[in-house]
Amino acid sequence: MKICGVTLLAVIIPFSGATSQLRVASPDGRNVVMVDTHDGKLYYLVQRDGRPLLTPSLLGFEFRGAPALRDGLRIVDSSRDAVDETWTQPWGEVSRIRDHHNELKVSVTETGPPDRKFTVAVRAFNDGVAFRYEFPAQANLGDFAITDELTEFAMADNARAWWIASNRPRLDRSEQLWSEGPVSTLDSVQTPLTMEARDGKTFVVIHEANLVDYAKMNIRGPRMDNRTLHADLAPMADGVKVRGHTPFVTPWRTIQLADRVTDLAPSVLGLNLNPPNVLPATDWIKPLKYVGIWWGMHIGTMSWSSGPKHGATTANAKRYIDFAAANGFGGVLVEGWNTGWDGDWIANRDAFSFTQPYPDYDLREVARYAQSKGIRLIVHNETSGGIQNYERQMDSAFALYRSLGIHAIKTGYVTDLTSEGHSHYSQFMVQHYRRVIATAAQYGIAVDAHEPMHDTGERRTYPNMLSREGARGQEYNAWSGDGGNPPEHETILFFTRLLDGPMDFTPGIFDILRTKTGPARRNDEPRVRTTLAKQLALYVVIYSPVQMAADLPENYDHQPAFQFIRDVAGDWDTTRVLAGRIGDYVVGARRERGGPTWFVGAITDEQGRTLDVPLSFLTPGRRYVADVYADGPGANWMDNPLPVAISHRPVTSATRLRVVLAPGGGQAIRIHPAP
Ligand code: NOJ
Repeated sequence: MKICGVTLLAVIIPFSGATSQLRVASPDGRNVVMVDTHDGKLYYLVQRDGRPLLTPSLLGFEFRGAPALRDGLRIVDSSRDAVDETWTQPWGEVSRIRDHHNELKVSVTETGPPDRKFTVAVRAFNDGVAFRYEFPAQANLGDFAITDELTEFAMADNARAWWIASNRPRLDRSEQLWSEGPVSTLDSVQTPLTMEARDGKTFVVIHEANLVDYAKMNIRGPRMDNRTLHADLAPMADGVKVRGHTPFVTPWRTIQLADRVTDLAPSVLGLNLNPPNVLPATDWIKPLKYVGIWWGMHIGTMSWSSGPKHGATTANAKRYIDFAAANGFGGVLVEGWNTGWDGDWIANRDAFSFTQPYPDYDLREVARYAQSKGIRLIVHNETSGGIQNYERQMDSAFALYRSLGIHAIKTGYVTDLTSEGHSHYSQFMVQHYRRVIATAAQYGIAVDAHEPMHDTGERRTYPNMLSREGARGQEYNAWSGDGGNPPEHETILFFTRLLDGPMDFTPGIFDILRTKTGPARRNDEPRVRTTLAKQLALYVVIYSPVQMAADLPENYDHQPAFQFIRDVAGDWDTTRVLAGRIGDYVVGARRERGGPTWFVGAITDEQGRTLDVPLSFLTPGRRYVADVYADGPGANWMDNPLPVAISHRPVTSATRLRVVLAPGGGQAIRIHPAP
């Protein structure tokens, strides 16, 4: 039956040669999208080098209280455009980005009542393709309630996929471990969804861009065959997915394409599909490294709530500020500073105040002290999903922070459903997250969002949207019931979640074997499952403009390896992925913004391995010194994670480094011009 379904679809939708068929190719001619109708239904397909990647895939919608927009469709018009522009990011993984694409707009109308019309806009880039629906204002489509977006992604074969589920084990959480398997086994998954075509010639990543006033798109697995994926929008409490009024545009559905997995990053397709920066000035938005009153809560030595273990005291905050200033860091995060944490802070989410500190935390004094030391205070706003409670206070809180010279917040949404009963990823929450970014921008405040909406490139329009969590971070190594993130975790993260944007992963734990009950004894106890050298390499591999040195300051005392965290840059001109395989290893190199120094990070899964890394990216003819932080003799993540061998050696662009990685290990290298 299944095979029959595939054959049938391919046979009854004869795309090639149809007269109404419309086609747009990427500037290099390799990626092609065609749009056509068949039997009154609208389809698109995607080819690369003439090979089908997506076979005819349905487009359309279902509505509450109105007929579906799916049948009796006719293409009535089309237009074309071409763009070749290069723009500069105020901060980022790369400084200059080229937006080079060809566009096709296809106007479609119903052939009978209610005679609704819409346009499908398609853009073909060299690194992928994208499309969205655009609804003009019209008599028979004013207010609407979408119950289903019918967009399909009919993979040409049963591609190999890496995914996290969107419906389990907890509704609406992206904090999960990845699974791998054929597309035919997908149920309901999140994007970015990374896939490898069966012929091994193309990597395909489905995601979305410019999600402003719509529901987050998840992907539902095949139902009728073994390869057709479906858009699956997150619902609001009443089951409606999107409420709107024409004129209206949807987010872009993006399909990133690459020959090699290492060509997927850095991914800029989504950024090119977002509008340019709208902020009048961006010089106040500073990438920085930070420390914080944070890990202590996760390992249980401090508390968010008031009491003897309260972490956010004035004295403790000053201690962190002193540490940050002494080590050249830019910021200090303080969690648990505001009232509302006592008792069940998830159930009592509406009790959070965002202006009222606990009595032992003098916010004004801490802010003053931080400023006097040149340190930026990062104020924590955990909402627990109490959206109305937060929005009621947002303006007064942000005004207070601005008056105290505070320019950054970390938001939090530890919840499945919001206090209004909406999905964490519903249109309601998309609007909320956007409101937070826009309001924060008005007050000169940058945002680091935890439990965020997934990244769809909004940092281009609002560069104050600095970083976000949106995957299992370091914190799971402190308390997770499954023992923590396995050694392969970050090698998958890199080719999946990190393709959508920066992640505040919070690397840098040095007290690796520590658990809540003392040194780790059993393998299922939560603990960091990397070597120490790999913790260093994560600063290069995982991109974030705000990078935490997550451990307790005292754990960096007398640690020569801490020098790498002091030195590593956080803002980049150039990023190259030198080698990698999903779930196995990654080697990346980045050059600091506005400077000649390169950083290389290499990480591996539970397998030790030796890699040959040519330094051909260095400027030819220039002499450099490499500061190498390698796994020391006998190191392995399991029972000997701490040895780090630090060495310094001259290198040039002709050098090939032999990078030896321990099981669960890594290597971090700073390459700077020779004196
Ligand atoms: C989860 C966040 O990811 C973490 O960073 C934070 O400390 C806790 N929530 C409390 O808000």
